Order: sequence, then C-alpha cells, then structure tokens
Amino acid sequence: MKKILVTGGAGYIGSHTVVELVEAGYEPIIVDNFSNSEESALEGIAAIVGRNVTCHRVDCTDSKALREVFEKEQDIVGVIHFAANKAVGESVENPLKYYHNNVGSLVALLQVMEEFKVNKLVFSSSCTVYGVPESLPVTEETPVQKANSPYGNTKKICEEILTDVAASGSTLKSIALRYFNPIGAHPSAKIGELPLGVPSNLVPFITQTAIGMREQLTIFGNDYDTPDGTNIRDYVHVVDLAKAHVVAVERLLEEKGESLEFFNIGTGNGTTVLEAVKAFESATGVKLNYKIGPRRAGDVPKIYADVAKATEALGFKTTSTLEEAMKSAWDWQVSLKESTAKV
Ligand code: UFG
Repeated sequence: MKKILVTGGAGYIGSHTVVELVEAGYEPIIVDNFSNSEESALEGIAAIVGRNVTCHRVDCTDSKALREVFEKEQDIVGVIHFAANKAVGESVENPLKYYHNNVGSLVALLQVMEEFKVNKLVFSSSCTVYGVPESLPVTEETPVQKANSPYGNTKKICEEILTDVAASGSTLKSIALRYFNPIGAHPSAKIGELPLGVPSNLVPFITQTAIGMREQLTIFGNDYDTPDGTNIRDYVHVVDLAKAHVVAVERLLEEKGESLEFFNIGTGNGTTVLEAVKAFESATGVKLNYKIGPRRAGDVPKIYADVAKATEALGFKTTSTLEEAMKSAWDWQVSLKESTAKV
C-alpha cells in the first residue's frame, strides 16, 4: 500500500482525509503535535476503518523529528500538509505564532521531502487568498489579494513558496487546494470538529448553541448587499473536501498536470448565514436561538467558488447537500455530549 504522510492528520479535515485515504487503499501515516487536536480522533478513525493508523507525535516545524519519521517510514510516496494554526482572530493577536508554525512547517517539510526525494505534495490553502473578490464566483484566475489577517497571509506566503520552488526547477509536484468553508462531520459521528474554547466558526457555534452549551448565536450583520443582508459563503461538507485530497494525490502520483496547480474546493453554491441557520433547523428539527448583531471586523461580504477546474481536472464533485452537512454536524455534537455524559 502506498504510504501518504498526513501532517495534522488528527485534526478536523486531516482526520476525515485519513479515513478517505484508507478507504481508497492508501496507507496514511499521521504526523501531529496535538496542539489543536485530540488523541480521541485516532480512536474515531480506527473505529471507522477497523484498524489503527500509524501516528507520530511530531511538530512539523521540527526538521530533525520530521527527518526521523521519513527515515522510519522509508517509502513515503506523497505528503498532504494540513498542520497549521487556523484562527483568524488569534493570528491578529499573535502573528509570530502563525508565521512560525504555518510558514515554518512548510519550509521544514519541503526541505526534508527534498532530502528524502519525496516530491508530491497536497497543500491546504484557503479561499482567504482571494480577499474581497471583485466578481463572483471566484475562479482560480481571480486575482489573489493582500491578506486581511496574518493567518490569511500565511496561506498566501505558503502558495508563493510553492510557486518559487516550482520555478526553481525542483522535481516537486504540488497541488494547493483552496478550501471554502468546510462544515459537517463523518456520517458515523465518530470524528468531527473539536473547536478549542468558544468557536469562532459558524457551524460549531450553531451546534453548541442548539445543544445548550452557548446561549445564543449572534449573526454578524444583516446590512450587507446580499438577498437577506447576511454574508454569503460556500459551505462544503468535510467528507467531500476530504475526498478532494484523495483525487489530488492520485493526480500527483499519476504525474498529471503542471508542477504546481491550484484548485478551488467548494460546492459552487453561495449560502447566506440566515439560510445556513434555516438549513440547520430543517435538517435537525431543532430551533436555534439567534439574534442579529453588528458586523464582525474583517468579514468578506460574499464569496463562493467556481469549481469547474476541480471538476474537470480532478473529477471532483460534491455529493452532500447543505442539510446533510448540517445534520452530520449535529449528530457529531450529540455524540460528543453522549460521550462526555458517560465519563
Ligand atoms: N458568523 C456569524 N456568527 C458567528 C460565526 C460566524 O454570523 O458566531 C458568520 C460570519 O460572519 C460569516 C459566516 O458566518 O459570514 C462564516 O463564518 P466562519 O467564521 O465560519 O467562516 P469565515 O468565512 O469567516 O472563515 C473561513 C475560515 C477561515 C478562512 C476564511 C476565508 O474559517 O479559516 O473562511 O474567507 F480564512
């Protein structure tokens, strides 16, 4: 079985991708420092796939430790690099943490990959690189703009690093997937998102409110230029997103495409915050306590993806509806409560 190193493989998108890799016949090797993930994710993965997946507790900025993993595992054929910090607000308060972890880990990883002649990489990028886009939907040709947070800037810088490496004549072949808004959880409810503290993302805040952990959801503004005044996003089921990584790996291993390619990964549908709330309520039958509050600083008014390039080149297609994604997020939230209740 082909070994794929998955950094951040115990995290939210990483754990779902590990499951899809196993199901597609790969041997994922997880590298994670558990700074923003839990060992319980490994148990969840094992419960879904029916066996343990190898995991090395390593910080990806630590080249020496990474080197040991590559030495031990020997025949790694490709890497999916998820390991990164992702809280926009925290990145404004602590930019150096973000530059060190997000940029430092990519540089360390690329150096070690080069030493071990591993030259296939899938990188986690974000639609944040498009800033406030001038036209919608955004294609991969839509201009990348100045980032409006240090977090966003790390994604932009990492894409630039990959561009420079590609231009250097390196043998590296990489694919940067620009994620829109990942939501939901595995249908088994054995893995899902585990936000640290108060969630800043919409869907975990919705599920935590619905289950009684938070009193009320505040919708950040209803005076935007959108049909109901609330922000528009492209919410993509995390399992569909995970599958995009498997097809990206396949493309790299088949030596198809350019030395560096960018793909939008979303559904192609724009959804307002109010529509997302309604989808949650209709999918679960649970009424949500929410109010309209002021705008949140830094929010992009509207963004959604054109996914034609990913469909064409990767055969990427989403299969889950927004309601299914919301239902899976809810089932996961309920299962978390049940597992805490048992302790
Ligand atoms: N929202 C609320 N109330 C909340 C939380 C969110 O109304 O309590 C709204 C936001 O204003 C936004 C939408 O829900 O309109 C989605 O917000 P998220 O925080 O879930 O996601 P963002 O689109 O702000 O951020 C996501 C990723 C970032 C990435 C960014 C790029 O989480 O990592 O997209 O646009 F940088």
